[in-house]
Amino acid sequence: MDKILSYIDSNIGSFTEQLKDFLRIPSISTNPDNRGDVRKCAQYVEERMKEVGLENVMIFDTPLHPIVFGEWLHAGGDKPTILIYGHYDVQPVDPIDLWTDPPFEPVIKDGKIFARGAVDDKGQVFLQLKSIEAHMKNNGALPVNVKFIVEGEEEIGSVNLEKFIIDHKDLLKCDYVVVSDTSMFGKGIPSICYGLRGLAYMQINVTGPNRDLHSGSYGGGVDNPINALAHIISKLKDDKGKILIDGFYDDVIDMTSEERDEYSKLPFDEIKYKEGLDIDEVFGEEGYSTLERVSARPTLDCNGIWGGFSGEGAKTVLPSKAGAKVSMRLVPNQHPEKIEKLFEKYVMKIAPKSVKVEVKSLHGGMGALTPLDSPAMKAAVSAMEMAYGARPLFTREGGSIPVVNVFQTILNAPTILLGFGLPDENPHSPDEHFDLENFHKGIKTCAHYLNELSKINMKNNGKN
Ligand code: BES
Ligand code: MN
Ligand code: MN
Repeated sequence: MDKILSYIDSNIGSFTEQLKDFLRIPSISTNPDNRGDVRKCAQYVEERMKEVGLENVMIFDTPLHPIVFGEWLHAGGDKPTILIYGHYDVQPVDPIDLWTDPPFEPVIKDGKIFARGAVDDKGQVFLQLKSIEAHMKNNGALPVNVKFIVEGEEEIGSVNLEKFIIDHKDLLKCDYVVVSDTSMFGKGIPSICYGLRGLAYMQINVTGPNRDLHSGSYGGGVDNPINALAHIISKLKDDKGKILIDGFYDDVIDMTSEERDEYSKLPFDEIKYKEGLDIDEVFGEEGYSTLERVSARPTLDCNGIWGGFSGEGAKTVLPSKAGAKVSMRLVPNQHPEKIEKLFEKYVMKIAPKSVKVEVKSLHGGMGALTPLDSPAMKAAVSAMEMAYGARPLFTREGGSIPVVNVFQTILNAPTILLGFGLPDENPHSPDEHFDLENFHKGIKTCAHYLNELSKINMKNNGKN
Protein backbone atom coordinates (compact mmCIF):
# COMPACT_ATOMS: atom_id res chain seq x y z
CA MET A 1 0.00 0.00 0.00
CA ASP A 2 2.90 2.40 0.64
CA LYS A 3 3.67 2.84 -3.04
CA ILE A 4 0.00 3.40 -3.78
CA LEU A 5 -0.39 5.99 -1.04
CA SER A 6 2.69 7.94 -2.07
CA TYR A 7 1.49 7.82 -5.69
CA ILE A 8 -1.72 9.51 -4.50
CA ASP A 9 0.25 12.10 -2.51
CA SER A 10 2.54 13.01 -5.36
CA ASN A 11 -0.23 13.22 -7.96
CA ILE A 12 -2.91 15.00 -5.97
CA GLY A 13 -2.17 18.30 -7.76
CA SER A 14 -2.76 16.86 -11.21
CA PHE A 15 -5.82 14.91 -9.98
CA THR A 16 -7.31 18.22 -8.87
CA GLU A 17 -6.56 19.81 -12.25
CA GLN A 18 -8.25 16.90 -14.02
CA LEU A 19 -11.27 17.21 -11.72
CA LYS A 20 -11.60 20.82 -12.91
CA ASP A 21 -12.03 19.61 -16.51
CA PHE A 22 -14.81 17.28 -15.37
CA LEU A 23 -16.49 20.17 -13.52
CA ARG A 24 -16.32 22.46 -16.56
CA ILE A 25 -18.87 20.35 -18.44
CA PRO A 26 -22.39 21.68 -17.69
CA SER A 27 -24.12 18.29 -17.45
CA ILE A 28 -27.48 19.54 -16.13
CA SER A 29 -29.73 16.55 -16.68
CA THR A 30 -33.07 18.32 -16.30
CA ASN A 31 -32.35 21.01 -18.90
CA PRO A 32 -33.09 20.00 -22.52
CA ASP A 33 -30.63 22.67 -23.75
CA ASN A 34 -27.77 20.81 -22.02
CA ARG A 35 -28.46 17.45 -23.62
CA GLY A 36 -25.29 17.65 -25.73
CA ASP A 37 -23.20 18.63 -22.69
CA VAL A 38 -24.55 15.67 -20.75
CA ARG A 39 -23.40 13.35 -23.55
CA LYS A 40 -20.01 15.10 -23.66
CA CYS A 41 -19.71 14.48 -19.95
CA ALA A 42 -20.49 10.77 -20.43
CA GLN A 43 -17.68 10.63 -23.01
CA TYR A 44 -15.37 12.35 -20.55
CA VAL A 45 -16.10 9.63 -17.97
CA GLU A 46 -15.64 6.96 -20.64
CA GLU A 47 -12.17 8.30 -21.48
CA ARG A 48 -11.09 8.52 -17.83
CA MET A 49 -12.29 4.95 -17.24
CA LYS A 50 -10.18 3.71 -20.16
CA GLU A 51 -7.20 5.74 -18.96
CA VAL A 52 -7.18 4.22 -15.47
CA GLY A 53 -7.17 0.74 -16.96
CA LEU A 54 -10.79 -0.38 -16.77
CA GLU A 55 -11.84 -2.77 -19.54
CA ASN A 56 -14.96 -3.22 -21.68
CA VAL A 57 -15.65 0.47 -21.21
CA MET A 58 -18.95 1.25 -22.88
CA ILE A 59 -21.53 3.96 -23.19
CA PHE A 60 -25.11 2.67 -23.10
CA ASP A 61 -27.71 4.92 -24.61
CA THR A 62 -31.06 5.26 -22.89
CA PRO A 63 -34.17 7.16 -24.00
CA LEU A 64 -32.56 10.18 -22.31
CA HIS A 65 -29.01 10.38 -20.91
CA PRO A 66 -26.25 7.77 -21.38
CA ILE A 67 -24.94 5.35 -18.77
CA VAL A 68 -21.17 4.71 -18.68
CA PHE A 69 -19.84 1.31 -17.67
CA GLY A 70 -16.38 -0.23 -17.22
CA GLU A 71 -14.93 -3.21 -15.38
CA TRP A 72 -11.79 -5.05 -14.33
CA LEU A 73 -12.42 -8.70 -13.43
CA HIS A 74 -9.06 -10.43 -13.08
CA ALA A 75 -8.77 -10.66 -9.29
CA GLY A 76 -10.09 -14.21 -9.21
CA GLY A 77 -13.30 -15.91 -8.14
CA ASP A 78 -12.48 -16.05 -4.45
CA LYS A 79 -12.25 -12.25 -4.31
CA PRO A 80 -15.38 -10.13 -4.02
CA THR A 81 -16.81 -8.29 -7.00
CA ILE A 82 -17.90 -4.76 -6.21
CA LEU A 83 -20.05 -2.44 -8.28
CA ILE A 84 -19.15 1.21 -7.81
CA TYR A 85 -22.03 3.57 -8.64
CA GLY A 86 -22.08 7.33 -9.07
CA HIS A 87 -23.64 10.06 -11.22
CA TYR A 88 -22.08 12.58 -13.58
CA ASP A 89 -25.19 14.73 -13.99
CA VAL A 90 -25.72 17.84 -11.90
CA GLN A 91 -28.51 20.09 -10.67
CA PRO A 92 -29.44 23.38 -12.37
CA VAL A 93 -27.48 26.46 -11.26
CA ASP A 94 -30.24 28.95 -10.52
CA PRO A 95 -30.30 31.39 -8.77
CA ILE A 96 -27.20 32.19 -10.81
CA ASP A 97 -26.72 35.69 -9.27
CA LEU A 98 -25.98 34.15 -5.88
CA TRP A 99 -22.83 32.36 -7.11
CA THR A 100 -19.57 34.09 -6.18
CA ASP A 101 -17.87 32.60 -9.28
CA PRO A 102 -19.47 31.10 -12.41
CA PRO A 103 -20.70 27.55 -11.58
CA PHE A 104 -18.87 25.85 -14.45
CA GLU A 105 -15.56 27.67 -14.01
CA PRO A 106 -14.08 25.82 -11.03
CA VAL A 107 -11.94 27.82 -8.62
CA ILE A 108 -9.97 26.78 -5.53
CA LYS A 109 -10.26 28.90 -2.39
CA ASP A 110 -9.37 27.99 1.22
CA GLY A 111 -8.63 24.40 0.28
CA LYS A 112 -12.03 23.92 -1.33
CA ILE A 113 -12.98 23.53 -4.97
CA PHE A 114 -16.07 25.53 -5.97
CA ALA A 115 -18.29 24.46 -8.91
CA ARG A 116 -21.66 22.87 -9.61
CA GLY A 117 -21.17 19.12 -9.09
CA ALA A 118 -18.00 19.52 -6.99
CA VAL A 119 -19.35 17.34 -4.18
CA ASP A 120 -22.56 16.04 -5.82
CA ASP A 121 -21.30 13.93 -7.37
CA LYS A 122 -18.41 14.53 -9.78
CA GLY A 123 -15.75 15.02 -7.11
CA GLN A 124 -16.78 11.78 -5.46
CA VAL A 125 -16.96 9.78 -8.72
CA PHE A 126 -13.52 11.13 -9.54
CA LEU A 127 -11.95 10.08 -6.26
CA GLN A 128 -13.19 6.52 -6.85
CA LEU A 129 -11.61 6.56 -10.33
CA LYS A 130 -8.31 7.85 -8.97
CA SER A 131 -8.17 5.14 -6.29
CA ILE A 132 -8.43 2.60 -9.11
CA GLU A 133 -5.72 4.42 -11.05
CA ALA A 134 -3.43 4.36 -8.00
CA HIS A 135 -3.68 0.56 -7.79
CA MET A 136 -3.42 -0.04 -11.53
CA LYS A 137 -0.44 2.29 -12.08
CA ASN A 138 1.53 0.73 -9.23
CA ASN A 139 0.52 -2.95 -9.32
CA GLY A 140 -0.94 -3.35 -12.79
CA ALA A 141 -3.90 -4.99 -11.06
CA LEU A 142 -6.72 -4.42 -8.60
CA PRO A 143 -7.08 -6.41 -5.36
CA VAL A 144 -10.77 -7.18 -6.08
CA ASN A 145 -13.02 -7.41 -9.12
CA VAL A 146 -14.49 -4.04 -9.94
CA LYS A 147 -17.45 -2.93 -12.05
CA PHE A 148 -18.08 0.79 -12.36
CA ILE A 149 -21.34 2.41 -13.44
CA VAL A 150 -21.87 6.16 -13.73
CA GLU A 151 -25.28 7.46 -14.77
CA GLY A 152 -26.52 10.81 -16.05
CA GLU A 153 -30.06 10.94 -14.64
CA GLU A 154 -29.69 10.72 -10.87
CA GLU A 155 -30.79 14.29 -10.29
CA ILE A 156 -34.01 13.67 -12.23
CA GLY A 157 -34.91 10.47 -10.39
CA SER A 158 -32.78 7.87 -12.28
CA VAL A 159 -35.65 7.52 -14.74
CA ASN A 160 -34.04 4.90 -17.00
CA LEU A 161 -31.68 3.18 -14.59
CA GLU A 162 -34.01 0.66 -13.00
CA LYS A 163 -34.90 -0.84 -16.38
CA PHE A 164 -31.21 -0.87 -17.31
CA ILE A 165 -30.36 -2.78 -14.14
CA ILE A 166 -33.16 -5.31 -14.75
CA ASP A 167 -32.06 -5.75 -18.39
CA HIS A 168 -28.35 -6.09 -17.47
CA LYS A 169 -28.49 -8.18 -14.33
CA ASP A 170 -25.59 -10.38 -15.46
CA LEU A 171 -23.37 -7.51 -16.50
CA LEU A 172 -23.92 -5.84 -13.11
CA LYS A 173 -23.86 -9.00 -10.96
CA CYS A 174 -21.81 -8.27 -7.87
CA ASP A 175 -21.36 -9.03 -4.18
CA TYR A 176 -21.48 -5.45 -2.92
CA VAL A 177 -22.38 -2.02 -4.26
CA VAL A 178 -20.24 0.97 -3.26
CA VAL A 179 -21.61 4.51 -3.56
CA SER A 180 -19.75 7.75 -2.84
CA ASP A 181 -22.60 10.28 -2.92
CA THR A 182 -23.29 11.10 0.73
CA SER A 183 -21.66 13.19 3.47
CA MET A 184 -19.54 12.68 6.54
CA PHE A 185 -20.64 13.97 9.92
CA GLY A 186 -18.25 16.92 9.92
CA LYS A 187 -14.72 18.04 9.09
CA GLY A 188 -12.34 15.57 10.74
CA ILE A 189 -15.29 13.42 11.88
CA PRO A 190 -15.48 10.53 9.41
CA SER A 191 -18.74 8.63 9.28
CA ILE A 192 -20.48 6.01 7.20
CA CYS A 193 -24.09 6.45 6.21
CA TYR A 194 -26.34 3.40 6.67
CA GLY A 195 -29.73 4.86 5.79
CA LEU A 196 -31.27 7.12 3.16
CA ARG A 197 -34.79 8.46 2.86
CA GLY A 198 -37.18 7.81 0.00
CA LEU A 199 -39.17 10.42 -1.86
CA ALA A 200 -42.63 11.14 -3.22
CA TYR A 201 -42.77 14.35 -5.24
CA MET A 202 -46.20 15.85 -6.00
CA GLN A 203 -47.75 18.82 -7.71
CA ILE A 204 -51.06 20.48 -6.87
CA ASN A 205 -52.84 22.60 -9.50
CA VAL A 206 -55.76 24.73 -8.41
CA THR A 207 -58.11 26.43 -10.85
CA GLY A 208 -60.78 28.95 -9.89
CA PRO A 209 -62.64 31.15 -12.37
CA ASN A 210 -61.95 30.73 -16.11
CA ARG A 211 -59.92 34.00 -16.25
CA ASP A 212 -58.20 36.49 -13.98
CA LEU A 213 -60.79 38.79 -12.43
CA HIS A 214 -60.96 42.29 -10.92
CA SER A 215 -60.62 41.56 -7.21
CA GLY A 216 -62.95 44.43 -6.36
CA SER A 217 -65.77 43.30 -8.60
CA TYR A 218 -65.53 39.58 -7.80
CA GLY A 219 -63.54 39.31 -4.54
CA GLY A 220 -65.69 37.91 -1.74
CA GLY A 221 -68.05 36.14 -4.10
CA VAL A 222 -65.70 33.86 -6.04
CA ASP A 223 -63.11 31.69 -4.34
CA ASN A 224 -59.48 32.61 -4.91
CA PRO A 225 -57.27 29.66 -5.96
CA ILE A 226 -54.32 31.02 -3.97
CA ASN A 227 -56.41 31.20 -0.80
CA ALA A 228 -57.75 27.70 -1.50
CA LEU A 229 -54.22 26.36 -2.08
CA ALA A 230 -52.99 27.99 1.14
CA HIS A 231 -55.90 26.35 2.95
CA ILE A 232 -54.89 22.93 1.56
CA ILE A 233 -51.21 23.37 2.37
CA SER A 234 -51.97 24.52 5.91
CA LYS A 235 -53.80 21.26 6.55
CA LEU A 236 -51.00 18.95 5.39
CA LYS A 237 -49.11 19.28 8.70
CA ASP A 238 -50.12 20.37 12.18
CA ASP A 239 -48.28 23.10 14.05
CA LYS A 240 -46.06 20.51 15.73
CA GLY A 241 -44.71 19.17 12.44
CA LYS A 242 -46.84 16.02 12.33
CA ILE A 243 -48.15 15.08 8.88
CA LEU A 244 -51.95 14.88 8.81
CA ILE A 245 -52.45 12.72 5.69
CA ASP A 246 -54.58 9.71 6.69
CA GLY A 247 -52.45 6.55 6.90
CA PHE A 248 -49.19 8.40 6.24
CA TYR A 249 -47.32 6.84 9.17
CA ASP A 250 -48.76 3.30 8.79
CA ASP A 251 -45.62 1.71 7.31
CA VAL A 252 -43.04 3.73 9.23
CA ILE A 253 -40.58 1.60 11.15
CA ASP A 254 -39.59 3.46 14.28
CA MET A 255 -35.96 3.66 15.29
CA THR A 256 -35.09 1.11 17.95
CA SER A 257 -34.17 2.45 21.36
CA GLU A 258 -30.57 1.27 20.82
CA GLU A 259 -30.48 3.21 17.57
CA ARG A 260 -31.84 6.33 19.29
CA ASP A 261 -29.22 5.91 22.01
CA GLU A 262 -26.44 5.76 19.43
CA TYR A 263 -27.93 8.77 17.67
CA SER A 264 -28.00 10.82 20.84
CA LYS A 265 -24.24 10.25 21.23
CA LEU A 266 -23.39 11.84 17.88
CA PRO A 267 -21.47 15.10 18.38
CA PHE A 268 -24.22 17.36 17.03
CA ASP A 269 -24.10 21.01 18.11
CA GLU A 270 -27.56 22.53 17.73
CA ILE A 271 -26.42 26.06 18.60
CA LYS A 272 -23.81 26.03 15.82
CA TYR A 273 -26.38 24.47 13.51
CA LYS A 274 -28.80 27.37 14.11
CA GLU A 275 -26.03 29.96 13.79
CA GLY A 276 -24.87 28.46 10.49
CA LEU A 277 -28.39 28.89 9.09
CA ASP A 278 -29.27 32.22 10.75
CA ILE A 279 -32.37 30.78 12.35
CA ASP A 280 -33.57 31.43 15.91
CA GLU A 281 -35.34 28.11 16.42
CA VAL A 282 -35.33 24.68 14.85
CA PHE A 283 -38.70 23.22 13.90
CA GLY A 284 -39.90 19.66 13.50
CA GLU A 285 -41.94 16.72 14.64
CA GLU A 286 -42.49 16.73 18.38
CA GLY A 287 -40.61 14.11 20.37
CA TYR A 288 -37.62 13.78 18.04
CA SER A 289 -34.19 15.39 17.96
CA THR A 290 -33.08 17.51 15.01
CA LEU A 291 -30.79 14.75 13.74
CA GLU A 292 -33.63 12.23 13.91
CA ARG A 293 -36.00 14.65 12.19
CA VAL A 294 -33.68 15.26 9.25
CA SER A 295 -32.72 11.67 8.59
CA ALA A 296 -34.80 8.98 10.26
CA ARG A 297 -38.30 10.54 10.27
CA PRO A 298 -40.54 11.15 7.26
CA THR A 299 -41.40 14.71 6.39
CA LEU A 300 -43.31 16.97 4.02
CA ASP A 301 -42.18 20.22 2.45
CA CYS A 302 -43.55 22.69 -0.02
CA ASN A 303 -40.79 23.19 -2.64
CA GLY A 304 -42.38 25.92 -4.69
CA ILE A 305 -45.62 27.85 -4.98
CA TRP A 306 -47.03 30.16 -7.62
CA GLY A 307 -50.08 32.10 -8.67
CA GLY A 308 -51.35 35.63 -9.20
CA PHE A 309 -49.24 38.74 -9.18
CA SER A 310 -45.79 38.86 -7.62
CA GLY A 311 -44.18 41.70 -9.57
CA GLU A 312 -43.18 45.11 -8.28
CA GLY A 313 -46.01 47.20 -6.81
CA ALA A 314 -49.67 46.26 -6.41
CA LYS A 315 -52.17 44.74 -8.81
CA THR A 316 -55.69 44.08 -7.62
CA VAL A 317 -56.41 40.75 -9.22
CA LEU A 318 -58.28 37.58 -8.31
CA PRO A 319 -56.22 35.01 -10.21
CA SER A 320 -57.57 32.10 -12.18
CA LYS A 321 -54.84 29.62 -11.23
CA ALA A 322 -52.40 28.66 -8.49
CA GLY A 323 -50.10 25.72 -7.90
CA ALA A 324 -47.50 24.17 -5.64
CA LYS A 325 -44.82 21.48 -5.64
CA VAL A 326 -44.81 19.38 -2.50
CA SER A 327 -42.34 16.65 -1.68
CA MET A 328 -42.37 14.06 1.07
CA ARG A 329 -39.20 12.41 2.31
CA LEU A 330 -40.03 8.86 3.27
CA VAL A 331 -38.32 6.41 5.56
CA PRO A 332 -37.39 2.87 4.50
CA ASN A 333 -40.48 0.62 4.19
CA GLN A 334 -42.76 3.51 3.16
CA HIS A 335 -43.73 2.94 -0.48
CA PRO A 336 -43.87 6.04 -2.68
CA GLU A 337 -46.78 4.73 -4.84
CA LYS A 338 -48.88 4.17 -1.74
CA ILE A 339 -47.98 7.55 -0.25
CA GLU A 340 -48.81 9.28 -3.56
CA LYS A 341 -52.32 7.77 -3.44
CA LEU A 342 -52.83 8.71 0.22
CA PHE A 343 -51.68 12.26 -0.56
CA GLU A 344 -54.08 12.64 -3.47
CA LYS A 345 -57.02 11.21 -1.54
CA TYR A 346 -56.39 13.51 1.42
CA VAL A 347 -55.92 16.64 -0.71
CA MET A 348 -59.18 15.88 -2.54
CA LYS A 349 -60.92 15.39 0.80
CA ILE A 350 -59.83 18.76 2.22
CA ALA A 351 -60.04 20.75 -1.04
CA PRO A 352 -62.70 23.46 -1.05
CA LYS A 353 -65.49 22.61 -3.51
CA SER A 354 -65.35 26.16 -4.85
CA VAL A 355 -62.20 25.42 -6.89
CA LYS A 356 -60.97 22.60 -9.15
CA VAL A 357 -58.01 20.70 -7.74
CA GLU A 358 -55.70 18.37 -9.64
CA VAL A 359 -52.95 16.31 -8.00
CA LYS A 360 -50.08 14.87 -10.03
CA SER A 361 -47.20 12.70 -8.99
CA LEU A 362 -43.84 13.73 -10.50
CA HIS A 363 -41.41 11.10 -9.28
CA GLY A 364 -40.53 8.98 -6.31
CA GLY A 365 -38.22 6.38 -4.90
CA MET A 366 -37.76 4.05 -1.96
CA GLY A 367 -35.48 4.78 0.98
CA ALA A 368 -32.89 2.26 2.08
CA LEU A 369 -31.16 0.87 5.10
CA THR A 370 -27.85 -0.92 4.59
CA PRO A 371 -26.70 -3.74 6.87
CA LEU A 372 -24.10 -2.72 9.46
CA ASP A 373 -22.68 -6.19 9.95
CA SER A 374 -21.64 -7.19 6.42
CA PRO A 375 -17.91 -7.92 5.95
CA ALA A 376 -17.87 -5.15 3.34
CA MET A 377 -19.07 -2.67 5.98
CA LYS A 378 -16.33 -3.79 8.36
CA ALA A 379 -13.78 -3.33 5.58
CA ALA A 380 -15.16 0.20 5.00
CA VAL A 381 -14.74 1.05 8.68
CA SER A 382 -11.09 -0.09 8.58
CA ALA A 383 -10.37 1.77 5.34
CA MET A 384 -11.80 5.05 6.66
CA GLU A 385 -9.93 4.67 9.92
CA MET A 386 -6.67 4.16 8.02
CA ALA A 387 -7.14 7.30 5.92
CA TYR A 388 -8.59 9.57 8.62
CA GLY A 389 -6.91 8.27 11.76
CA ALA A 390 -10.30 8.13 13.49
CA ARG A 391 -12.95 5.44 13.66
CA PRO A 392 -16.01 6.41 11.58
CA LEU A 393 -19.37 7.00 13.24
CA PHE A 394 -22.57 5.55 11.80
CA THR A 395 -25.24 7.98 10.59
CA ARG A 396 -28.40 8.07 8.48
CA GLU A 397 -28.98 10.83 5.97
CA GLY A 398 -32.09 12.62 4.86
CA GLY A 399 -31.34 12.76 1.12
CA SER A 400 -32.39 10.12 -1.38
CA ILE A 401 -30.57 7.82 -3.78
CA PRO A 402 -33.49 5.66 -4.93
CA VAL A 403 -31.27 3.30 -6.93
CA VAL A 404 -29.74 1.95 -3.71
CA ASN A 405 -32.97 0.12 -2.98
CA VAL A 406 -33.08 -1.14 -6.57
CA PHE A 407 -29.53 -2.55 -6.23
CA GLN A 408 -30.54 -4.27 -3.01
CA THR A 409 -33.69 -5.84 -4.46
CA ILE A 410 -32.68 -6.61 -8.08
CA LEU A 411 -28.99 -7.46 -7.60
CA ASN A 412 -29.45 -8.69 -4.05
CA ALA A 413 -26.26 -6.84 -3.10
CA PRO A 414 -25.89 -4.74 0.04
CA THR A 415 -24.70 -1.18 -0.56
CA ILE A 416 -21.93 0.59 1.28
CA LEU A 417 -22.40 4.38 1.33
CA LEU A 418 -18.84 5.64 1.51
CA GLY A 419 -19.32 9.39 1.18
CA PHE A 420 -16.87 12.25 1.63
CA GLY A 421 -18.99 15.39 1.45
CA LEU A 422 -19.47 17.77 4.37
CA PRO A 423 -22.92 18.82 5.57
CA ASP A 424 -22.47 22.48 4.56
CA GLU A 425 -20.98 22.17 1.06
CA ASN A 426 -24.11 23.52 -0.65
CA PRO A 427 -25.07 20.72 -3.01
CA HIS A 428 -28.03 21.88 -5.17
CA SER A 429 -27.35 25.50 -4.04
CA PRO A 430 -25.13 28.39 -5.14
CA ASP A 431 -21.40 28.09 -4.28
CA GLU A 432 -21.39 24.30 -4.16
CA HIS A 433 -17.91 23.12 -3.15
CA PHE A 434 -15.87 20.11 -2.05
CA ASP A 435 -13.17 20.11 0.59
CA LEU A 436 -9.88 19.14 -1.08
CA GLU A 437 -8.56 17.42 2.03
CA ASN A 438 -11.55 15.09 1.84
CA PHE A 439 -10.94 14.64 -1.89
CA HIS A 440 -7.38 13.53 -1.06
CA LYS A 441 -8.36 11.37 1.93
CA GLY A 442 -11.30 10.02 -0.05
CA ILE A 443 -8.92 8.67 -2.73
CA LYS A 444 -6.82 7.09 0.02
CA THR A 445 -9.86 5.62 1.77
CA CYS A 446 -11.04 4.03 -1.47
CA ALA A 447 -7.56 2.72 -2.24
CA HIS A 448 -7.41 1.14 1.23
CA TYR A 449 -10.95 -0.09 0.75
CA LEU A 450 -10.11 -2.14 -2.34
CA ASN A 451 -7.30 -3.69 -0.35
CA GLU A 452 -9.44 -4.38 2.74
CA LEU A 453 -12.18 -5.91 0.60
CA SER A 454 -9.66 -8.35 -0.87
CA LYS A 455 -9.35 -9.95 2.60
CA ILE A 456 -12.93 -11.23 2.27
CA ASN A 457 -12.91 -14.75 0.91
CA MET A 458 -15.99 -15.27 -1.26
CA LYS A 459 -15.40 -19.05 -1.39
CA ASN A 460 -16.39 -18.87 2.23
CA ASN A 461 -19.63 -16.95 1.55
CA GLY A 462 -17.87 -13.75 2.42
CA LYS A 463 -17.22 -14.82 6.01
CA ASN A 464 -13.42 -14.29 5.73
N1 BES B 1 -26.31 12.96 -3.44
C1 BES B 1 -27.68 13.25 -3.30
C2 BES B 1 -28.37 12.44 -2.23
C3 BES B 1 -28.01 12.84 -0.83
C4 BES B 1 -28.24 14.13 -0.40
C5 BES B 1 -27.51 11.92 0.04
C6 BES B 1 -27.91 14.49 0.88
C7 BES B 1 -27.19 12.25 1.32
C8 BES B 1 -27.38 13.56 1.74
C9 BES B 1 -28.39 13.00 -4.63
O1 BES B 1 -27.67 13.47 -5.73
C10 BES B 1 -29.70 13.74 -4.64
O2 BES B 1 -29.69 14.94 -4.65
N2 BES B 1 -30.81 13.03 -4.66
C11 BES B 1 -32.09 13.59 -4.83
C12 BES B 1 -32.98 12.48 -5.26
C13 BES B 1 -34.07 12.78 -6.21
C14 BES B 1 -33.77 13.64 -7.36
C15 BES B 1 -34.79 11.51 -6.61
C16 BES B 1 -32.59 14.18 -3.54
O3 BES B 1 -32.26 13.67 -2.43
O4 BES B 1 -33.30 15.18 -3.59
MN1 MN C 1 -25.71 12.92 -5.62
MN1 MN D 1 -28.01 15.68 -5.84
